[in-house]
Amino acid sequence: MKAMLIDGKAVSASLREAMKAEVEELAEQGITPGLAVVLVGDDPASQVYVRNKEKGCEELGIYSEKYELPAATTQRELMDLVETLNKKPDIDGILVQLPLPDHLDSNAVIEAISPDKDVDAFHASNVGRIMLGDYRFLPCTPAGIMELIHSTGIEVEGKECVIVGRSNIVGKPMAMLLLHENGTVTVCHSRTKNLAEVTRRADILVAAVGKPNFITAEMVKEGAVVIDVGMNRDGNGKLCGDVDFEAVGEVAGAITPVPGGVGPMTITMLLKNTITAAKKQ
Ligand code: GUN
Repeated sequence: MKAMLIDGKAVSASLREAMKAEVEELAEQGITPGLAVVLVGDDPASQVYVRNKEKGCEELGIYSEKYELPAATTQRELMDLVETLNKKPDIDGILVQLPLPDHLDSNAVIEAISPDKDVDAFHASNVGRIMLGDYRFLPCTPAGIMELIHSTGIEVEGKECVIVGRSNIVGKPMAMLLLHENGTVTVCHSRTKNLAEVTRRADILVAAVGKPNFITAEMVKEGAVVIDVGMNRDGNGKLCGDVDFEAVGEVAGAITPVPGGVGPMTITMLLKNTITAAKKQ
């Protein structure tokens, strides 16, 4: 492989080291950050994510509570739990793992979370703040990606940045963070015409599509930084991203692997937001 490997585990470990020291300092002031994680139903991928979030808390000395609710939980029951957590003094951050079962209204749940405890930065008021450039809570995955880009030493300013995918969790906030650092940002999606022509312009290419091997070598400019946000299973059930890693690795200047790229960073930024929330309480 020609491209430099962007090691999300290593970047994440060095950030967590610094955050651990920060948690120790807070402990001296009698403050322990607390995170509540709510999981509804038994989606296996969500169970893995939630487990990793708990482990991350443990590692840093953050207090955590896990609420595992049955798939048949009603909207009212979930809203009541969020309301209880909003008022709970030892909880600084609330995360409701998405996706929720179909009968539940995710938007209503997200809007019920106190914006001061919204460590995912999904609440409309936090989304609005991000748009205005006020980053009290960083959107976890995009913020983790910015850390990975910084780790390569590349400056975003003036670069062609192309994002494939326009979700509220990744694509849209990613565009804001890149814009904030003076990148020239293009957001592509399923209706984009001549996609390869657009992606080939990218100095920084972020793939958040949800389809294995969607980004091929022909779609990537020589030397580009390629960030793979995908978390897919291939035909053999093996975890893989959105990027054809082997082929694109021969063209790109730097590339994130899956697993071990963006994934560990998302949780690290969640922990960072939890510490931020605790400092503000
Ligand atoms: N599901 C997939 N990614 C996320 C995330 O970052 N936060 C939450 N709450 N659910 C998710």
